[in-house]
Amino acid sequence: MAPFSLAGRTALVTGAAGWTGQGIARALAHHGAAVVVNDIDRERADALVAELAAAGASVYGAPFDVTDYDAVSAGVRESEAALAPVDILVNCVGMPGTPNKHIEFAHSDPADWRPWIDINIYGSLNCLRAVLAGMCARGWGRVIQISSAMAARGLPNRESLLGGSKAGIEGTLRSIALEVVDRGVTINTLAVGLLQNATVHARPEIVRATLARVPAGRFIEPSEVGAAVVYLASEEAAMITGQTHHLNGGSYQGH
Ligand SMILES: NC(=O)c1ccc[n+]([C@@H]2O[C@H](COP(=O)([O-])OP(=O)(O)OC[C@H]3O[C@@H](n4cnc5c(N)ncnc54)[C@H](O)[C@@H]3O)[C@@H](O)[C@H]2O)c1
Repeated sequence: MAPFSLAGRTALVTGAAGWTGQGIARALAHHGAAVVVNDIDRERADALVAELAAAGASVYGAPFDVTDYDAVSAGVRESEAALAPVDILVNCVGMPGTPNKHIEFAHSDPADWRPWIDINIYGSLNCLRAVLAGMCARGWGRVIQISSAMAARGLPNRESLLGGSKAGIEGTLRSIALEVVDRGVTINTLAVGLLQNATVHARPEIVRATLARVPAGRFIEPSEVGAAVVYLASEEAAMITGQTHHLNGGSYQGH
């Protein structure tokens, strides 16, 4: 088998119609995986499903809301009936715009904090819970959590709950990884730096300041995130688990 081949594997990518998710879904399909495209944005999800199918991939659209556990369970069951049991889970949903998404904590309300926790912690755990027991029973699985450099460092960008919720899911997964380490299942976090999505585009002053701190001096491409996910999902990465891997052009060096 070719190195890093994912032939015969089925991957569920959440938030797959987004900027980063598309790069991940394309990379997984390119390496032979069947792909479940999850996103609440049906129009963009349908377009991605059509594109991957036209390129010859096995693909299924599953537009469930990751924050709704019952919807996640039903969506995973339907996807598995249409394709095959999920071997690879990539949690890549990103926070949608909310009225007070970027607000100083001193002026925030508890209701402003909850969507970050719902998406980044409950959303990820709902999907993990729906697939993890099956992975363990079959003796093979890969879980890749997309996180942010902000889980490890502060930034003055009025997104403190982004850092908090990503750090929370990273810490939770680090221990779940050890619960399943003897069952052929690896769980890793990929903490990415600045990507040029629509929200980022809308905040040019933050982008300039953040980009100035990236030694590589440019945005990360979705295809570069996809390539890292393919590696972590591969047979070859079987001994890498319970870790956070940083992909950010040198902007976070662990100190
Ligand atoms: N953009 C950046 O600079 C950056 C930096 C670090 C980490 N990240 C992380 O990368 C991941 C993807 O971010 P992105 O920049 O591609 O965002 P994006 O907004 O382009 O994509 C996110 C997708 O998630 C979908 N979504 C939102 N809520 C959902 C829900 N409840 N259920 C299902 N789907 C839902 C949206 O429809 C959207 O298509 C996120 O986890 C984000 O935190 C992004």
